[in-house]
Amino acid sequence: MRHMLNPLDFSVKEIDALLSLASDIEHNPPKYAHVCDGKKLATLFYEPSTRTRLSFESAMLSLGGSVLGFSSADSSSAAKGESVSDTIRAISCYADIAAMRHPKEGSALVASLASSIPVINAGDGGHQHPTQTLTDLMTIRSLTGRLGHMTVGLCGDLKFGRTVHSLINAMVRYPDTRFVLIAPDELRIPSYIREDVLKANHIEFKEVNNLDEAMPDLDILYMTRVQKERFFNEEDYIRLKDCYILDKKKMKLAREDMYVLHPLPRVNEISTEVDSDPRAAYFKQVQYGVYVRMALIMTLLEVEKPC
Ligand code: NCD
Repeated sequence: MRHMLNPLDFSVKEIDALLSLASDIEHNPPKYAHVCDGKKLATLFYEPSTRTRLSFESAMLSLGGSVLGFSSADSSSAAKGESVSDTIRAISCYADIAAMRHPKEGSALVASLASSIPVINAGDGGHQHPTQTLTDLMTIRSLTGRLGHMTVGLCGDLKFGRTVHSLINAMVRYPDTRFVLIAPDELRIPSYIREDVLKANHIEFKEVNNLDEAMPDLDILYMTRVQKERFFNEEDYIRLKDCYILDKKKMKLAREDMYVLHPLPRVNEISTEVDSDPRAAYFKQVQYGVYVRMALIMTLLEVEKPC
């Protein structure tokens, strides 16, 4: 039995196969409409979510399966003090696969150790968010035709942004990938990513404060929200929340073939005037998120690809 806790749980070859399956699903949805008939997905969400939870549910329903779950810690037995391990042991009796989001780093790993069904990490605190990464990889591959041989700018809250940590983890495995890490000093990338992922893999990267200066070099600009819920005090959040705002003026500095991604939800960091720019890919990204989650559910449940 396999889990998906970190993008590195799958080899590059396995991710390639998963993205190809997702792409086949995108182009032939009826073929997959019953491959998970009779299977159940449990969504265990101890933290707010719109896209991730609903895209998992939509994915399972589109495969013919059913869904059950809870969407906040308050409405689960966590409110009575139940541990994640006990909860997942119970859920293993009700469902065939589980997607879990939790505010604590490492919680999905803890759940996987007690689980008898595959566990998917749908975000563990400021740590990892592997299914957003699969979504991001599918978006980049579909729009540019490649993974690797590109300069990726990551901008905003690189400290607490789990989507950023997972994406860097995954992308260092593709050849000739360079990063420009654009953040205020207080929200720089954590040292474990800088040292153990970027430097350890001899990846070319620079850390800068200025978005305008970085724009012309980028193939992908990955914008992120300042993660309000992970700040220890409101004052720091207020001071940093609008540190970068991507607008039409900044987009003029970018290449014609650069794409803007964002895991969403957006607050102020991308002005709505950018939405009509053909390079704005963040709503397309949402759609790709359903296909990759369909492919992931099939892969973890070891469902045969229909002919
Ligand atoms: C992200 C998350 O939850 O980490 N959202 C998502 O899953 N699409 C990004 C964010 O909340 O800023």
